[in-house]
Amino acid sequence: MKFDTPATTNPIDRMRVVGKPHDRIDGPLKTTGTAPYAYERHDVAPGAAYGVIVGATIAKGRILAIDTSAADALPGVLGIVTWQNAGPLKKAGAHTARMLAGPDVEHYDQAVAVVVAETFEQARDAARAVHVDYQRAKGSFDLAAAKDGATKPKSGGPDSAFGDFATAFAAAPVKIDQTYTTPDHSHAMMEPHATIAAWEGDRLTVWTSNQMIAWAVRDLSQTLGIPKDRITVSSPYLGGGFGSKLWIRSDAVMAALAARAVKRPVKVALLRTQVVNNTTHRPATIQRVRLGATQDGTITAIGHESWSGDLPGGGPETAVMQTRLLYAGANRMTATRLAVLDLPEGNAMRAPGEAVGLLALEIAMDELAETLGMDPVELRIRNDTQVDPEKPERPFSQRDLVGCLRIGAERFGWNRRKAKPGSTRDGRWLVGMGVAAAFRDNINMRSGARVGIDGQGRVTVQTDMTDIGTGSYTIIAQTAAEMMGVEIGQVIVELGDSRFPVSAGSGGQWGANSATAGVYAACVALREKVAQKLGFNSADAVFEDGRVRSGNRTAPLTDAAGLVAEDTIDYGDLAERYAQSTFGAHFAEVGVDVMTGEVRVRRMGGAFAAGRILNPKSARSQVIGAMTMGVGAALMEEAVVDKRFGFFVNHDMAEYHVPVHADIPHQDVFFLDEVDDKTSPMKAKGVGELGICGVGAAVANAVYNACGVRVRDYPLTLDKII
Ligand code: MOS
Repeated sequence: MKFDTPATTNPIDRMRVVGKPHDRIDGPLKTTGTAPYAYERHDVAPGAAYGVIVGATIAKGRILAIDTSAADALPGVLGIVTWQNAGPLKKAGAHTARMLAGPDVEHYDQAVAVVVAETFEQARDAARAVHVDYQRAKGSFDLAAAKDGATKPKSGGPDSAFGDFATAFAAAPVKIDQTYTTPDHSHAMMEPHATIAAWEGDRLTVWTSNQMIAWAVRDLSQTLGIPKDRITVSSPYLGGGFGSKLWIRSDAVMAALAARAVKRPVKVALLRTQVVNNTTHRPATIQRVRLGATQDGTITAIGHESWSGDLPGGGPETAVMQTRLLYAGANRMTATRLAVLDLPEGNAMRAPGEAVGLLALEIAMDELAETLGMDPVELRIRNDTQVDPEKPERPFSQRDLVGCLRIGAERFGWNRRKAKPGSTRDGRWLVGMGVAAAFRDNINMRSGARVGIDGQGRVTVQTDMTDIGTGSYTIIAQTAAEMMGVEIGQVIVELGDSRFPVSAGSGGQWGANSATAGVYAACVALREKVAQKLGFNSADAVFEDGRVRSGNRTAPLTDAAGLVAEDTIDYGDLAERYAQSTFGAHFAEVGVDVMTGEVRVRRMGGAFAAGRILNPKSARSQVIGAMTMGVGAALMEEAVVDKRFGFFVNHDMAEYHVPVHADIPHQDVFFLDEVDDKTSPMKAKGVGELGICGVGAAVANAVYNACGVRVRDYPLTLDKII
């Protein structure tokens, strides 16, 4: 189905099931430990052996020799795969570094071997006995030092320039010119990367933990050099992804190689200590923001430059993207620069681009408001735009940043904020409030599904869409129930399998809107078939209460048992015609300990405009989680680089700190009542990643308001505040 705007009135608009706060249907499985995760698929791969990956202990250089003789002789060892016996391997286009090192080593903890044994303990023991001789090469590990050699990246968006930024900025009566830094971040999802691989002849099946099934098949095919139709990927449940599972990683490749070598299924999980350096991370950035404004707060010049680093051939953190769309301003520029660093591969993490870019831009806006003596909410409202500032002929499909700011401020009690820093004291705490805008693009992705009816009138949906803890099972069931006129309990949803139609997958907050739109398309096709079979005119057939009705004739859906339909929603050039974005406003109240500089978040509030909300409960959960991640970025998350040896030192959950429930006493989440008919037949948009975008700056601005210390180097640890 080709989507054409505006969306028609359709059965989803009834909102009998869609739009209701249904509990997650996978919730009981997960909370009782019965959802089968990749590493636990003993049911499908009995007798699997255990593989443990040996990671490189240098960041850059060559493997001179690998001695496996001691490891081979240990009890239970079944085989050891290294680059010397792995057979030909290629680097998939989606990977910057190879999944198996040899002879070159590209980054610390890059896989150099997988040791397979009867038990996990035997494999881990033998992995320690593998001896690798390296020749270490000099690497580049320090972004600040590499910054001046950074160049224009091939990917990640070109520089942009409109009007005459330099002249307008020079002439602006009020200006801000500041540099902000953000550190490397690690995804820190609960479930580490894990895979069981099994071969049947030349056919490979992997049970893995992956966000994008079709990409996984593609990348396994490219890496192993086998046709896609001989690969099956299954990933029905994930314990979080956060971007690190958008692509297969070494667990999948090494499990496949190991299973082929020992001729039985092999399971490989990355040890927690391997996840940080063996896989991807969010790259650190250095960002310069320049804002010029007139005395009344009208922005006349807005400039944003960002530097980040990656391995040779990699890409940048696209931190300037939101600055092209968020605020008006006749004279504008953005630029992205990429330095070569020999740290592990940088890539997408939790709203890549905006999550980091807003950390800088939204402190700069706070600094501008303070310089102007203007309320920071009002400054943002004054500089709203209803069209793409670079392409005035391209409107936003829908945009209510102003509504988010006003409603959010009202709900939060913003009017109690005192503009002068250090004005509010509560015992040993200095208390302050901060605000920041939230912005995240809404991306539409082709998405397919297959829907069928069985003899009990149940509706089965199959799509390779994944549920990474986000609620896909639930909103897909709601969509099919609404379309086919059955109770949600009558819908069976099967996800995450490459034998099902290719969906949008889970990433970039495109999953919910696109995947449900694909299910909508398949249901439209199924309704046609049902109507035809039962002799109804599909245009006026109503699907309700397990029956089909037209005029005074009705028939039970069970009369259509056995019918199956499949379709894919396709968006064509929709993104050219409309700027599609989601908006919000974050508010935070913090306390800063006057003696120690310790920061505590006291409460947070947010208002969000993201089209129709398909399930207010799961959407709220997404946003609460995202706001929590934003507090992590503001106050604690930092993958610390050892600049001598080129790796992330704090590579476990004890040393890489993320917030917990007790760190966030109260969160208020409010969704504006929107229906966006230019995004899909669902009239929804993404919301999951919107929640993280801007949060960190709201917290940083609150810290400033509390104590008058402006920290521009994240995270805001107490040593930078005291
Ligand atoms: Mo997201 S970082 O695109 O999984």
